[in-house]
Amino acid sequence: MSQPHQPSESIVVLDFGSQYSQLIVRRLREAGVYSELLPFSVAPEKALALSPKGIVLSGGPNSVYAPGAPQLPSWVVESGLPVLGICYGMQLQAHTLGGSVEPASEREYGHAVIQVQASSPLFEATPEQQPVWMSHGDRIAGLPSGFTAVAASSNSPCAAMADEERRWYGIQFHPEVVHTAYGQQILSNFVYRICGCEGDWRPAHFIAEAVERIRAQVGEGRAICALSGGVDSAVAALLAHEAIGDQLVCIFVDNGLLRRGEAAQVVETFQQHLNIELIAVDAADEFLSALAGVVDPEQKRRIIGEKFIRIFERQAREIGDVRYLVQGTLYPDVIESTAPDRNVAAKIKTHHNVGGLPADMQLQLVEPLRYLFKDEARAAGLALGLPEDWVWRHPFPGPGLAVRVLGTVTRERLDTLRAADAIFLEELRAAGLYRATQQAFAVLLPIRSVGVMGDGRTYADVIALRAVTTDDFMTADWARLPDELLARVSNRIVNEVPGVNRVVYDISSKPPATIEWE
Ligand code: XMP
Repeated sequence: MSQPHQPSESIVVLDFGSQYSQLIVRRLREAGVYSELLPFSVAPEKALALSPKGIVLSGGPNSVYAPGAPQLPSWVVESGLPVLGICYGMQLQAHTLGGSVEPASEREYGHAVIQVQASSPLFEATPEQQPVWMSHGDRIAGLPSGFTAVAASSNSPCAAMADEERRWYGIQFHPEVVHTAYGQQILSNFVYRICGCEGDWRPAHFIAEAVERIRAQVGEGRAICALSGGVDSAVAALLAHEAIGDQLVCIFVDNGLLRRGEAAQVVETFQQHLNIELIAVDAADEFLSALAGVVDPEQKRRIIGEKFIRIFERQAREIGDVRYLVQGTLYPDVIESTAPDRNVAAKIKTHHNVGGLPADMQLQLVEPLRYLFKDEARAAGLALGLPEDWVWRHPFPGPGLAVRVLGTVTRERLDTLRAADAIFLEELRAAGLYRATQQAFAVLLPIRSVGVMGDGRTYADVIALRAVTTDDFMTADWARLPDELLARVSNRIVNEVPGVNRVVYDISSKPPATIEWE
């Protein structure tokens, strides 16, 4: 297992279950201070090993007085560290230290305006009156001793409280969401003016440290890495290569389900541009024959997942004496898998990740991105020389185009989809809107429709275009692409892709739809 990151300073965020908990950590890192999200029940030694200079208590869905509601751990009170409680975190401070919390007569949800009533380092460099984002049903009815109210809103007489001597602060609103206009300033005030952080968190420092850690873990051993064509595995491979050079072998399995030009680009970028040894396996025939006649999406996923593992194992055996497996696991995946108290969304699709390999391979995992958010991994990728268009590439599902060719997957149908998809992405880029959407692609439907071309009737394939905007891929909205762009794409597809006579645009959000159609 990879060594934990050992920062010289940090802010520990204790997770009480808010949907915004991860965002707090991201904002603190954007402010230049390393931060980790830990379950509220974390062992104190684990939290203190991060050399925290302060603690943030996240929001959460509970009421502090409800039976079984998570309570403030005593080590937080005993630590003597500055503490910022956000929403539920603030109510916990009040509840624990002798104040009182009660249901508000009106729930406060959404925009509100607070009035800062007393000077406090927490609100330094912010105006007296400022817009914030609230989301709470309870409020502080009585302040704990030592605290004074420092801000109010029309619904919350105590929208912020402070015990300056103890350096404990509570805010009812969410500074981590963009709707709180001075939220980033408030978080910066907490980490710099109150906790006295130095602010040494930079992707460049991270790279040097990650390289050292990989060297320490792998030593003289041999490691392999499965490249998927996505940004995470590429950045993990680059870091590992920087650390152990030719002891790393990258394997790229072309499953025949990739977008146009993608396989060639992976091989060229790695071998020629980055000078990294790469074994490229052309396994398109194997995958396509295993998928022959399969219609069910979950069965497609299973077949592709298993096939990938078998091919990967075969390659690893051929290389021989491999002891380590480099993977591009990111911090949000780590948080989800180590936070049993959070309500993990029901599994709608089995997301087979190309990196997900069976435990019986007995390889030790090297996960250099384990503590990084996607935007930090991208910054590291750029610093390591990964081309810009690769770094900003939309995510692509492990089962690839097999779940975008609805119904049976054949070479011919894949070619039709690839051609349509390439036109869509080309036009989206030309319109300067590729990065304004988080995922955009074409889908080949399993039906045909009637059309007319020239003087003749046609009965041909239908392409659906899907483009979404999203922060986290858990929820998404359909992208409002300009009419002219959609018209151009549609025109080009029916004219340039043989066998397609109709193009539709998907206007469903997630939920209730999902981003992919299968
Ligand atoms: P859905 O369709 O569930 O997709 O809204 C959410 C995100 O996950 C990607 N996705 C997958 N990724 N294997 C993957 O590695 C899969 O089987 C898979 N299915 C969906 C999807 O592209 C989107 O980014």
